[in-house]
Amino acid sequence: MTCQENEQLEAIVEEAKHVITHGKVATYIPALQSADPNALAVAIYRPDGSCLAAGNIDIKFTLQSISKVLVLALALMDRGEETVFHKVGYEPTGDPFDSIIKLETISPSKPLNPMINAGALAVTHLICGNNEEEQFERLLTFVRKLSNNPQVTYCENVAHSEFETAYLNRALLFYMKQHGVITCDVEALMKLYTKQCAIEMTCRDLARIGLIFAMGGIDPDTGVQLIPTAINTICKTFMVTCGMYNASGEFAIRVGIPAKSGVSGGIMGAVPNKLGIGVYGPSLDTMGNSIGGLKMLELLSKEYALSIF
Ligand code: DON
Repeated sequence: MTCQENEQLEAIVEEAKHVITHGKVATYIPALQSADPNALAVAIYRPDGSCLAAGNIDIKFTLQSISKVLVLALALMDRGEETVFHKVGYEPTGDPFDSIIKLETISPSKPLNPMINAGALAVTHLICGNNEEEQFERLLTFVRKLSNNPQVTYCENVAHSEFETAYLNRALLFYMKQHGVITCDVEALMKLYTKQCAIEMTCRDLARIGLIFAMGGIDPDTGVQLIPTAINTICKTFMVTCGMYNASGEFAIRVGIPAKSGVSGGIMGAVPNKLGIGVYGPSLDTMGNSIGGLKMLELLSKEYALSIF
């Protein structure tokens, strides 16, 4: 089904345009800096399969940290809660997403949650598969099912660009290897993680994935349970407590929608039993969240009373 252009959403995009000059496109992954800072898009999926959209809805962007919540779902399905939460905790950090500080101050050393880079790397390590290629193929198959788009793939250029420059993530991995949180080869895991972060899609695909989380893990088109209910609940809860990093508290108050952001400028939202939302705007605030995306979600939440609180 194609997305219908929608006037109310167009108005929201127009209003969000006023704030995007206050942000900056991510540059620490070199390939991300070519994104158009003025791009803005929003798509909404409803349980009846209808889709509304506005803005630059055909632009594809990489998931970056949004992939963390999808990988968490898959790892929990593959390995179960006990194994996953043996490696990673449940608590927000209040620190930037790439911080190493809590790994050193907490004993035994273990990342505090699966939405920070250290935690996501530890969870990616748990995806089943005989090697990094097999693990990635399984993840891609899962993402294609969630987005209902068999064309979804990853951007080699962005994956390569991050792989070549991810010194901080490698530092996190070596630290965790020293402490037995991961046991595999650091470079193989970096390959898998950078491909995972480079999975690419449009706002519409992202909204469709948000809808699955919103509907308790069930694909409303087919009635198939793609994510078991209990795992879906865990993922949605992490979106509330840690989905917007150290801005999650303010986001919960201003917007109140379970959501996950990424440094390419995407944010996925899941309004329980109502909507899946995908927004895009590569101009970021200082925490690494899309500044236009945050504005659009705030406006949507106010206009349609979407806060879960
Ligand atoms: O590992 C990284 O730094 C990136 N691939 C993903 C970080 C990210 O998206 C944080 N988001 N706000």
